[in-house]
Amino acid sequence: MGAPMSRIPLRPEKAGEEIAALTAPPDWSVVFGSEGPLELEIGCGAGGFALEYCRRNPAVRYLAFEWRKKYAREVAHRAMKHGLGNLKVVEGDARIVVPKIFAPGSLAVIHLQFPDPWWKRAHFKRAILLPDFTRLLLGLLEPGGRFDFRTDVEERAQQGLAVLEAAGFHNPLGPGVFHPADPDEPASTRERRYLVTGQPVFRARLVKPARTA
Ligand SMILES: C[S@@+](CC[C@H](N)C(=O)[O-])C[C@H]1O[C@@H](n2cnc3c(N)ncnc32)[C@H](O)[C@@H]1O
Repeated sequence: MGAPMSRIPLRPEKAGEEIAALTAPPDWSVVFGSEGPLELEIGCGAGGFALEYCRRNPAVRYLAFEWRKKYAREVAHRAMKHGLGNLKVVEGDARIVVPKIFAPGSLAVIHLQFPDPWWKRAHFKRAILLPDFTRLLLGLLEPGGRFDFRTDVEERAQQGLAVLEAAGFHNPLGPGVFHPADPDEPASTRERRYLVTGQPVFRARLVKPARTA
């Protein structure tokens, strides 16, 4: 699954167009043709994590959002090529589509890996971990559901963790404490680079408390 992405001809149709067009949560057992934990990834990029995670975890039903056409369509192509029916790629802005298509308490895990740091002040509003959207994500998780967050940018790691904890996520390791690397978790495409260079990666693994709405 690690071949260079540029060799794949782009599909003419948008990835997950029918999912992006939904205006209300569907019956996911019909969409996937199976039952199982529903997981969301925001910004899957070239899909290194999504493809390997779905290969290792056939029981999960995984929705990977990516707004860049090239990545979204190539990852969708790879999922199809590898017979990963449990991975659906949605080409679109997760901040717009996610609130429409997931019912409160329906997600088991949310993955956010190496989100764009948006350094320019004018672009900061594009960040994923802003307070309102973070509270919305908390509401979409089931009680005990998990939020996995990784980044190489220490400043964004600290800010992200603070926003997540302020929104009501529980950090089992203690406030502000990062999570150690989990050797059983696949690395994302970007993370593979850091595993080679040794550049630090900051991780958080938070949970939705059982009694949060
Ligand atoms: C720095 S890349 C990391 C990609 C991947 N998670 C990895 O670790 O290799 C961030 C990705 O998030 C995507 N992205 C950013 N904001 C998004 C949004 N609102 N909706 C969907 N995708 C988004 C970008 O296009 C980009 O591919």
